[in-house]
Amino acid sequence: MAKQRTVFRCASCGREEPRWLGRCPECGGWNTFTQTGSPASRTDGERASPRNLKSMPLASVEASTGARFDAGVEEMNRVLGGGIMKGASVLIGGEPGIGKSTLMLQIASLVKSSGTVLYVSGEESASQIKLRSDRLGLPSGAVEILCEVDLESVMTVLNSVKPVVAIVDSVQTLIAGELGPVPGTVNQLKACCSEIVGWGRSHSAGIFLVAHVTKEGTISGPKVIEHMVDTVLYFDQASSDLRILRATKNRFGPVDEIGLFTMGEKGLLQVRDPSSLFMVQREGALPPGVAVAPVYEGTRVLLVEIQALVVPAKGAISRVFSDRIDAGRVARVAAVLEKHVGLRFSDQDVYVNVAGGIRLSEVGIDLPLALAIYSARSGLPVPVGTAVAGEISLAGEIRPIPHVKKRVRAASEMGFRNFVGPVGLHPNEDAVDGFKRVATIGKSIELVFGGRGGARQAPTPAAAGPQAKATT
Ligand code: TYD
Ligand code: MG
Repeated sequence: MAKQRTVFRCASCGREEPRWLGRCPECGGWNTFTQTGSPASRTDGERASPRNLKSMPLASVEASTGARFDAGVEEMNRVLGGGIMKGASVLIGGEPGIGKSTLMLQIASLVKSSGTVLYVSGEESASQIKLRSDRLGLPSGAVEILCEVDLESVMTVLNSVKPVVAIVDSVQTLIAGELGPVPGTVNQLKACCSEIVGWGRSHSAGIFLVAHVTKEGTISGPKVIEHMVDTVLYFDQASSDLRILRATKNRFGPVDEIGLFTMGEKGLLQVRDPSSLFMVQREGALPPGVAVAPVYEGTRVLLVEIQALVVPAKGAISRVFSDRIDAGRVARVAAVLEKHVGLRFSDQDVYVNVAGGIRLSEVGIDLPLALAIYSARSGLPVPVGTAVAGEISLAGEIRPIPHVKKRVRAASEMGFRNFVGPVGLHPNEDAVDGFKRVATIGKSIELVFGGRGGARQAPTPAAAGPQAKATT
């Protein structure tokens, strides 16, 4: 049997310590620790006394497939993997002002379910929510509003209203009374999240928890409750009005789908045809430093323009400035170009950007990134109508990537007649025709830039290798 431990709990933020402290390391409060009997078990998900629990054969368990609601917003359905799962919880993280409340209100009003939708707001008044709803022209028939921050009151209303979808905006404003009066602490967040997620699971209701991502760290962010929910979505701003909804964890669907919205007068509008959203329209030849990549995102291929600028280093060491593509990856691709093509970067600063501001992380962008950097460094433009995709190994080989067929087709539909990709075939992929295959970074440059390309400088000795420092 577990021995009862003595714990000291901070009265203002709920932090627990095995010994008394004069100052709380969490909230900075003085003399706030008092002795309590046992740790707050609900935050640790600990069970009460062991009961006569029995396991059951997996074969006898009924799978509840098809138990989904149509969210009423197609891009949300896509990201969730076919709609809102009954009994499942979704965490929506994003910076303040990105549009989380707008999206939640749109879903509350448009979700196709036969029951009540409860919108719990700890940040706005009922009349502010109504004003927004009217301005966006949303139907408000099945939506119930509760402006409350006390967890116990919220639970009482959940039990009386029994909504089929419940939205909590934001979970950082909720207060579980026994953990002190300060909302947004790690313990408060975990306790409130676990209570509401548990309620949703036992009542087959779809739960949305909104959480702000804060840079200052004065309140805890969505990261601390990611493990407690079924799906984690992040809402991100690409360009001034473009918003991208991305799943980073999804127990009931894919994690590579993205939802695209534009924020305008009428709230968030879904982007139906994103094919040219991340391209720059130009007449004639391309300027040096740009390359087009067909990027695979979930079930869609987006054509994306990667832009690079290479200028003499301003400091003693060269640096990489890139926040849409991981700066470490840019440094690696530049190092491969230095080693295998002989372009020196150790005295150059490299800037990388992506048109439309989308963040890219998939494997296939290595090659277009390399060509954009090469083009920027050499001053030679990539020929018009060329799209490229491929992963690059440190040895300078072009490695196979998935979904080449879809990429070739999407590029060709957008008028890119010249597709350059890897020689090898990705496992589980049928042979694809209609594109030029390259085995190494050197060959890719020869093929794309023709006689003009190739090594322009003698390869630098290993001692003078790149010292690129990743900065974002
Ligand atoms: P909001 O949904 O309140 O953001 P969050 O809940 O993530 O903090 O969105 C607020 C921003 O969106 C605000 O700057 C105004 C803008 N906005 C529009 O541009 N159009 C609209 O129709 C709405 C509702 C908001
Ligand atoms: Mg909000």
